[in-house]
Amino acid sequence: MAKTILIYGSTTGNTEALSEHVAAGLKQGGADVTVKDVADTGVDELASYDAIVFGCSTWGDGELQDDFIDFHADLGGTSLDGKKAAVFGPGDSDDYPDTFCEAVGILEDVLKRCGADIVAETLKIDGDVEPAFGDAEAWGSKVAGAL
Ligand SMILES: Cc1cc2nc3c(=O)[nH]c(=O)nc-3n(C[C@H](O)[C@H](O)[C@H](O)COP(=O)(O)O)c2cc1C
Repeated sequence: MAKTILIYGSTTGNTEALSEHVAAGLKQGGADVTVKDVADTGVDELASYDAIVFGCSTWGDGELQDDFIDFHADLGGTSLDGKKAAVFGPGDSDDYPDTFCEAVGILEDVLKRCGADIVAETLKIDGDVEPAFGDAEAWGSKVAGAL
């Protein structure tokens, strides 16, 4: 059973809500999942997990959700060799067509630079998150199957 940490950053609760459904899917797929708010998580905690899932909304003009900014800075130089990873997040392509879900790409890039193996295509949820809870669960199961 892959020991997995799902770390989310969420300002208005959308990513947090999606995280519950991704975590349910990960569990259904056989992963052993711990869910944590990035505001309460240190980069050193990643060392004790086999797999890492990040969930992050995009704010400003294509920027990371606030609580992820320091965590992202701390990740630079960390080795995640041998760890498996995947990233999801909500955004809004109507209001932010040029920076839709850019935080998801920023986090996928840093995971790759740190040596993690990306096991699934990113999940980007556009607009209201509630209709996407089923997709989030299915994506979690798919990620678990690739661990
Ligand atoms: C001020 C502001 C800036 C935003 N900037 C972006 C953006 O650049 N790209 C994007 O895809 N979504 C953007 N969004 C939409 C949020 O990412 C979206 O509402 C998301 O569901 C919030 O998730 P959270 O509650 O987990 O933080 C922005 C929303 C606000 C209010």
